[in-house]
Amino acid sequence: MSTNLSTLLLRFSEPETLKMAKLGRELRAKGIDVIDLSLGEPDFDTPQHVKEAAIKAINDNWSHYTPVAGFPDLKEAVCTKLKRDNQLDYKPENIITSTGAKQSLANAILALVDEGDEVIIPTPYWVTYSELVKIARGHVVEIRSTVENNFKITPQQLEAAITSNTRVFMFSSPCNPSGAVYTKEELAALVKIFEKHPKITILSDEIYEYINFIGQHESIAQFSSIKERVAVIN
Ligand SMILES: Cc1ncc(COP(=O)(O)O)c(C=O)c1O
Repeated sequence: MSTNLSTLLLRFSEPETLKMAKLGRELRAKGIDVIDLSLGEPDFDTPQHVKEAAIKAINDNWSHYTPVAGFPDLKEAVCTKLKRDNQLDYKPENIITSTGAKQSLANAILALVDEGDEVIIPTPYWVTYSELVKIARGHVVEIRSTVENNFKITPQQLEAAITSNTRVFMFSSPCNPSGAVYTKEELAALVKIFEKHPKITILSDEIYEYINFIGQHESIAQFSSIKERVAVIN
């Protein structure tokens, strides 16, 4: 069977998170008390009003093809949220809705990265980031963060990692898995480096905006000098 598969698919192995989740289930089945930190799922069910809205949408026949980038009123609502919560000015034509952050990140990587291009990712990171770069046949360049720096990278580290092949910088703040949150001042220091490198696009994964145990959420898209090349995933 595997002889029929593409060389690209054969480069992938079982995702670490799924492997850990399976191990957790196996240990639990043996009666071992396991705290499973593998899959990131909330410990509550979908709220009732969300369930009812989804049921109503089906009953109202909102089940045909949508515009590819999303319905105009949904995109307007996203703009309203980004203005209200993040003080970010976007127009509906700047918004693309999708079936999740993983899909959005995959679309962005495939749109930006050619074979051999470099993508800088601070460690520790959500395991899928490097797999997406592999799909695009790019190279991952890791920047190691340390506990001394609260798992955040410095502008010096960023500058040292950039080469003429760097195309994308991809990070999450708040970060999965470290929980690190960059302050406005820390982001501003990184922006100073990006200003010198106009070929780099920044993928800012902000899906954990509200899972923040440290302080104010700040988006790197607030800096006008680089906003044109920031894609916010939220
Ligand atoms: C940092 C990060 N980004 C994106 C995702 C994927 O989000 P979604 O379920 O919306 O595809 C995850 C899921 O664990 C994540 O941890």
